[in-house]
Amino acid sequence: MIISSATDYREAARSKLPPFLFHYLDGGAGAEQTLRGNVDDLQQVRLRQRVLQGSEQLDLSTEWFGVKQDMPLALAPVGLTGMFARRGEVQAARVAAERNIPFIQSTVSVCSLQEVASQSSKPIWFQLYVLKDRGFMRDVLQRAKALGATTLVFTVDMPVPGARYRDAHSGMSGPYAGMRRMLQAMLHPRWALDVGLLGRPHDLGNISAYRGHVTGLADYIGWLGNNFDPGIGWKDLQWIRDEWQGPMVIKGILEADDAREALSFGADGIVVSNHGGRQLDGALSTAQALPAIVDAVKNKMTIFADGGVRTGTDVFRLLALGADGVLIGRAFVYALAVHGAAGVRNLLALMEKDLRTNMVLTGVKSVRDIGPDVLVRGVRS
Ligand code: GLV
Repeated sequence: MIISSATDYREAARSKLPPFLFHYLDGGAGAEQTLRGNVDDLQQVRLRQRVLQGSEQLDLSTEWFGVKQDMPLALAPVGLTGMFARRGEVQAARVAAERNIPFIQSTVSVCSLQEVASQSSKPIWFQLYVLKDRGFMRDVLQRAKALGATTLVFTVDMPVPGARYRDAHSGMSGPYAGMRRMLQAMLHPRWALDVGLLGRPHDLGNISAYRGHVTGLADYIGWLGNNFDPGIGWKDLQWIRDEWQGPMVIKGILEADDAREALSFGADGIVVSNHGGRQLDGALSTAQALPAIVDAVKNKMTIFADGGVRTGTDVFRLLALGADGVLIGRAFVYALAVHGAAGVRNLLALMEKDLRTNMVLTGVKSVRDIGPDVLVRGVRS
């Protein structure tokens, strides 16, 4: 199998994974307009080629919240990562630590915070949802803190789960879902043995740790829907800002006004994100949303962006649009599903190579200098 980018891993993951898992990962909300927009609009970003700029020494490092990072990249929180590879969160966190970039662990991970933190050589970042059960929120924040998580990523764009049509068709939810998943597992024996059998327990590790009993995956999206709190506003959340002394990043911002709200809330950073096109279908793509947000809050807080990133060139494009850092979600999980930790390691190496190539071809010596200067304005293909 020849692998040049996340797109190749995506195709390989399609054949390795049972369809209910592949489509849960790959799919988005509604007609998937925003999902496609993330990829397509990023491809439209045109870069200024420069020549003979003497770019021999390239610096890919950056600094977020006073901590040096070897690349301007982080592994995004992805629910159920441990269903795509055996103890998937642990494998991914180890590679992130090796590369000195953050691994952001999802609230709804398979492995618990305890399991991941105890097997990773670097502190993780922790992602939290706005949930009805404030007791759970407090408890899991305490646990994350005690386990040395450095940065809190607080996701605010999921007051209700988006309408994931693919899930009903694939057997992730819908009629006879349990039976269909079982049948699909039998037809994908490599996954069934490696993850289905040897990757147990398949549990929502952080939820179980709180409830004191195993929380199965049978109605995962149902659990999310029942536990998210659509009634909540910024002022209801001030206690979290007061409770978490470390850096806090608000994830799921698409409008400049909301970025300003996040700043006055006391956030240290934001993730410009439409949740990978999984929430509001018809919402702006990241490439569309980012410039206005950069105009509003650049240099006042750290701006991350995600969505549609498949190559190092896409990382470069989001940095050119003004992001300080880029999160990759699906891209790393496709790679993890295909080759486990080795896949993630290879994907990061491929992205690094792309980034270096693009820096030479645009005449930029440090990733911190990738910005609007490298953009060709007003040209669409
Ligand atoms: C959970 O965050 C999801 O998008 O399914």
